[in-house]
Amino acid sequence: MKRAFESGAHRALKEHQSKLAPVHLRELFAQDPGRFQRFSLELGDLWFDFSKNRLTGETLELLLALAREAGLEARTAAMFEGYPINNTEGRAVLHTALRNLGGTPVMLRGQNVMPEVFFELSRMGAFAESVRDGSFRGHSGKPIRRVVNIGIGGSDLGPQMVCEALRPFWKPGLSVHFVSNVDGAHLYETLKVCDPEETLFIVASKTFTTLETLTNANSARRWIVEAFGTEAAVARHFVAVSTAEDRVRSFGISPENTFHFWDWVGGRYSLWSVIGLPIAVAVGLEGFKELLAGAHQVDRHFLETDLSRNIPVIMGLLGIWYRNYFGAPAHAVIPYDQYLHRLPAYLQQADMESNGKSVHRDGSPVVGYQTGPVIFGEPGTNSQHAFFQLLHQGTGFIPVDFLAAVHPLHPYEDHHRILLANCLAQSEALLKGRTLDEVRREMAEEGRSREEVEALAAHRVFEGNRPSNTFLYDRLTPRNLGRLVALYEHRIFVQGVLWDVNSFDQWGVELGKKLAGRIQKDLEAGGAAGGHDGSTAGLLARLVRTPAPE
Ligand code: F6P
Repeated sequence: MKRAFESGAHRALKEHQSKLAPVHLRELFAQDPGRFQRFSLELGDLWFDFSKNRLTGETLELLLALAREAGLEARTAAMFEGYPINNTEGRAVLHTALRNLGGTPVMLRGQNVMPEVFFELSRMGAFAESVRDGSFRGHSGKPIRRVVNIGIGGSDLGPQMVCEALRPFWKPGLSVHFVSNVDGAHLYETLKVCDPEETLFIVASKTFTTLETLTNANSARRWIVEAFGTEAAVARHFVAVSTAEDRVRSFGISPENTFHFWDWVGGRYSLWSVIGLPIAVAVGLEGFKELLAGAHQVDRHFLETDLSRNIPVIMGLLGIWYRNYFGAPAHAVIPYDQYLHRLPAYLQQADMESNGKSVHRDGSPVVGYQTGPVIFGEPGTNSQHAFFQLLHQGTGFIPVDFLAAVHPLHPYEDHHRILLANCLAQSEALLKGRTLDEVRREMAEEGRSREEVEALAAHRVFEGNRPSNTFLYDRLTPRNLGRLVALYEHRIFVQGVLWDVNSFDQWGVELGKKLAGRIQKDLEAGGAAGGHDGSTAGLLARLVRTPAPE
């Protein structure tokens, strides 16, 4: 099969882009009073408005043709049906099975995976409930009040983002913490607020080989053993979540305290598995299942809805439109929802580790087009006072996703109105901009002198025509959060298919890890063994020579 970017659909899109590029979004809205309805989609109480994009019905048709050229539907079916689409690691990609609560069989190499999925889910749920109701106790008999998840990357960002998002649903008196960085400051500052008698550590690592996680877990283990004066305390203060039971056992955590998942769950797609244990502890098994149910609804929507009304497909195609036809270097995700403050960080891994690739699935180089953009973001309104200047007036444009809850989960309704007003105002400003004439008129109305107007007018012009999507959901419930996350997951998948890259491996993280091992040995030996470039050798020499401050 030809790649999408070698097809006639691609050539047609290039031609279409050159016609549409000079057209302003103001004109598109003026021409079509029904534009908002035409370019909005609904799923449960989630509303997806993509009308503020630089597209027409024809654009959408052409993008859909591109998706068909890439074989998107067949590739989607292959993922859901357990084919080893992660071809460089010979693995299936079945995180969707983890939220398949209806239990329809999901076959992998002739075996239905659902019984083991439900088995681990119920083990995890029972354990989480025992921590919540105080029946699981620490070594000295006290109930657990703090749970510290030790993990990094997918074993940290997903559960952390979800726990933060669902804070209003946490059980009072029980808190969850996340330690990821090998920088000892992370563990040190976390342990300062923990009492060993009431602390449970979850060591979360798919491979159980990750240096950062094992280093933090070993230090936490020492902290527990020193506090209780016995190794026996480890069994009541440590559990593990992993695919590598043998390595967990060698670390000293028993199989009863180990929750299991499988190599067909990618690290950055694993929050739905037992990696979600901190979520289940914080919000309970029922809350966790609601999260799964929301994601499952999106899975069905993705599988069953015609491409033209399929939200993740449209999200993905819009990203392709801007990345590959307008040269947009980045994509901003701006939750006007403080509870989603870790969503951009989570999506950075999910998207950039998945689609930051420069070879095709068959190993041939990607030539002539770009793959994954930079993903970044911060909650609104904070981001308005930080980098929105560039979004409004920087050279080029960066498409933005705005996300907001219609109703807040806090009592400050007046704050919420201000928040929502800002959210809509920003997307409107990006769309409309402000012309030179409008600036001149406004400044004259403000009573500014002609000289002032001439000196400042150009600086106050906004070209507008900058695209955005807006997601509105009723409240940030576990179900809505599950929907949102699954939408982004499938968006990533769609784009990976169109770029023909393997979105499920991450070879790009290997080299740094390997070199760090060598440099660590150099640091321990007090000097470089050679083989480094001049800069690295120079920095290393400086590090080993610099004495610790008094
Ligand atoms: O270094 C990247 C990575 O492999 C991620 O893909 C993964 O989520 C993270 O490290 C943590 O891996 P593990 O869960 O095996 O400790």
